[in-house]
Parts: sequence; structure tokens; C-alpha cells
Amino acid sequence: MRIGVFCSGGDAPGMNACVRAAVRCATSMGHEVVGINRGYQGLIDENFYVNSAGEPRMTARSVSNIVQRGGTILRSARCPAFLTEDGMLKAVRNLKKHGIDALVPIGGNGTFRGAAELIKRWEGRVVGCPGTIDNDLLGTDYTIGFSTAVATGVEAIDKLRDTAESHQRLFLLEVMGRHSGFLALYTALAGGAEFACVPETPTDIPGIVRHLEQLQKTGKKSIIGVVAEGDEEGGATILQKKLDDAKCTFSTRATILGHIQRGGSPTPDDRMLATRLGDFAVKSLDLGATGVMAGEINSRCVLTPLADTFAQHKPLPSELIDLLDRMSN
Ligand code: F6P
Repeated sequence: MRIGVFCSGGDAPGMNACVRAAVRCATSMGHEVVGINRGYQGLIDENFYVNSAGEPRMTARSVSNIVQRGGTILRSARCPAFLTEDGMLKAVRNLKKHGIDALVPIGGNGTFRGAAELIKRWEGRVVGCPGTIDNDLLGTDYTIGFSTAVATGVEAIDKLRDTAESHQRLFLLEVMGRHSGFLALYTALAGGAEFACVPETPTDIPGIVRHLEQLQKTGKKSIIGVVAEGDEEGGATILQKKLDDAKCTFSTRATILGHIQRGGSPTPDDRMLATRLGDFAVKSLDLGATGVMAGEINSRCVLTPLADTFAQHKPLPSELIDLLDRMSN
């Protein structure tokens, strides 16, 4: 088989480890690998990875020394052209022109929406790998990049706590996650934050203010609140104003972590997940699977139809929401 591998959408730490695993699994099984640069855009533009011998082919050596690197050597892109029929048909023509039989797209829900549409127009096989810091895909407990993004958020909290404690302030740390609160909730729990504002639950500003007054009475000197960028009350800056308006007794500052969460060397957990799933995706293609995403549930590799990975909102574990409540008294 000639297998195309690409990364698409927002990059995530661990994408390189996933590319490496897919390439090495494929080459060890005697398959050929074509690296597609810049996701769907590269497919439309015929932008292929060229190895050190000048060939448009990835070998085991093409992926040496990348397991520890953030970003993606194949680069990534958001591709509005692929949302059009013309764009998709151009991609299909290029897949046929270059003799590509199968694809391993690595990305988030936009990537899999695209892949689900592609297989309606192309007879090749597709097995995707979940690469996004958002952890918003069903069919896997965790997505590649999530663990590293949480670690980055926690490191930020540790630093904010120092200055918050010195000045007896409240810091609101805004994290990414799009419409999902996974990143915010895990960052809050692991960082020891006092509260988290997530899109999945209503944000009760007067309730937060009362809670913080209580904490202050018991001697609490600093407060950290983690705010998901998709929270209904707005991001950290808007929430800061709303807390001030609600006469919050702590002096408040807002910090937006932004794209810092997308970078950095992947954690061992992300490298492990990426390695298992990249390998599993190729083995599944070899066995004839298509139209699915490789994921890990309860430590086992599983396949889930692409459309099911983004059909519904991935629910936040309610026990973790309760846990955060209990930890912040
Ligand atoms: O999906 C990953 C993600 O980082 C989201 O958390 C965030 O909302 C979005 O991408 C940002 O996208 P961009 O890098 O295109 O601004």
C-alpha cells in the first residue's frame, strides 16, 4: 500500500511522535509512505515531504529524532478550500494521480469532518489519529497533545500562584479548548486552582464571589480560577470585569495562555499515546479498516467511525467537577 500521512488543524504536541509511529509501522510492514505537508491544503497543492535523497517518500530515517519535538515536521494548516466540493475533488484527483491507497490524517474534529466527507468521494482507506489539545473527540479517553497542554497550564498556575500569594490576588487563567472544558478542568484540578469556569456548566458569578469571601474568611491568601475560552460568561478578561462589578473582595488579574499551550516537548504520556495510535492506525489499514479513528479507551486501542467522533459533545466527567468543588474549600 502507498499510505499518505498528514497533520491538519491546530497542531498538538505529540503529532511528530504519531507521524514517526505511522511511518515506522508502515515501513516495517513493507508499505510505502508519502508525507503530505500542511494537511488538506498540501493535498490540494501536491505539497509532499521530500526526503534527504530528494524523493517524495518518508523512510524510517525521515522520522529520526522527532519523538521529543513539539509542532509537526509535516506542518499543519486550516484549509477553507477543502470545505468546497471543488477543493475536495481536487484532493481526490491528486490522491489518484500519486497512487495513494490510504490516508492517516492526524488532527481534531475539523480534520475528521473533512475525512468523513473525503471517503464519500474516494475509494481509498482512511484511519485517523486524534491529535488536538482540546480532548473533545469521542472514541478515545485522551487525544494526543492534551496531556502536554495540561502540563503547560499547570506550570503557568504554579508561577501565577507565587505572585498571587505575594499580592493576595485572584488570577484568572484562560486556557484554550474551543467549546470543550476538558483542558480547563484538568488544568484546574492538577494545578490546585480554586475554581474552573467551563462551557459544560453554568458559571454563577454571585456564587463564585460568595465562595471566595468564605475562603478569604478561612485565611485563603490567593485564588486561581481557570477559565475555558469557550465559557458562556466570556474569557478571563470579561470575567474579571464581571467579578469586579459583582464586588469580588480579591483584586483580580487576567492571564491568557493562548498558543503557548500548543507548543513544547510532548509529555511521556502523549508520546506513548501517539506511538500506540500511529502504529495501530497503520496496522488497522493493513487489515482493511476504513472510515474510522484509532483511539485508546481503558488502555486498549479501539476504532470508532469517524462521524461518531464529532457527532456529540464529549461530556466532562461529572465526578471531576465534584472533585474540584471538594478540593476548593
Ligand atoms: O483546536 C485546537 C485549538 O488550539 C483550540 O483550543 C483553539 O480554540 C483553536 O485551536 C485556535 O485556533 P487557531 O490556532 O487557528 O487560532
